[in-house]
Amino acid sequence: MKVLVATEKPFAAVAVEGIRQEVEQAGYTLELLEKYTDKSQLLAAVADADALIVRSDKVDKEVLDAARQLKIVVRAGAGYDNIDLAEATAHNVVVQNTPGQNSNAVAELVFGMTVMAVRNMYDGTSGTELKDKTLGIHAFGQVGRNVARIAQGFGLKVSALDPYCPDQVMIDADVKPIHSLQELYKDNKFVSLHIPATDETRHSVGYDLITLMPKGGVLINTARKEVIDEDGLAKALADRPDLKYVADIRPDNADMLLEKYAGRVFFTPKKMGAQTAEANINAGIAAANQIVAFLRDGVNRYQVNRPK
Ligand code: 3PG
Repeated sequence: MKVLVATEKPFAAVAVEGIRQEVEQAGYTLELLEKYTDKSQLLAAVADADALIVRSDKVDKEVLDAARQLKIVVRAGAGYDNIDLAEATAHNVVVQNTPGQNSNAVAELVFGMTVMAVRNMYDGTSGTELKDKTLGIHAFGQVGRNVARIAQGFGLKVSALDPYCPDQVMIDADVKPIHSLQELYKDNKFVSLHIPATDETRHSVGYDLITLMPKGGVLINTARKEVIDEDGLAKALADRPDLKYVADIRPDNADMLLEKYAGRVFFTPKKMGAQTAEANINAGIAAANQIVAFLRDGVNRYQVNRPK
């Protein structure tokens, strides 16, 4: 059995070693395809793979067609919008993710970027503090919950909106449940996005919501660029010179925003929220374990596509 790790953005070496150990202990072979620059490399490598571990790598119909022996894909991470679930189901391939494994890393980056924003991108001028300000968490999943935990250490007042999460989970975490999107944006100086990219959320955060934010508001996006309506964001930044937008995912109009709104926008060069040794080890080894459990023991955990 061959397990292929295909990561255009590689895991830390220590995580790869951990994955190798898990896979080889089970008697399987590990193949590594890192930093590939052309899809043809993935198509060739996947041809005889029984299992596939990816990160944000695209797994579409073409990849699934090429992967004639593939039984399982594990997305080492949370969001699986990079995988065509319907095609995977049609190809009889199980798709799993590894929820929670990289969420602390992403949550820590939220604060790395938030502090940077309120300290004026570290330009040396006088900024503001986080203590006693308000933070709204847009979606209270694993990352959102870690954000809440860290926020409390900063002395932030935390609220969250998530129609899929019971209020009690928020209350237990000392977080105020909010039930209206408008309220979330209107009442919080900082809003941190943690919604997945789905048909429901795509382009759902735009001008109307962003301009509800109070004076000096900062919108932090470590989720997906697709959830933002980029034209709406640009217009909001134009009409509201007090607002800032910091993101771990470069928007398509990044160059224009950086030129026009220098000092008020920031984008990491490449999505790096989950790019820590710890997150790579957690998510990578969890993925390897899930594959071994599935192939060897028939245990299916965290499946995200519907079996036929
Ligand atoms: C996730 O969905 O798990 C995060 O966005 C991290 O993605 P990455 O593995 O591509 O860094």
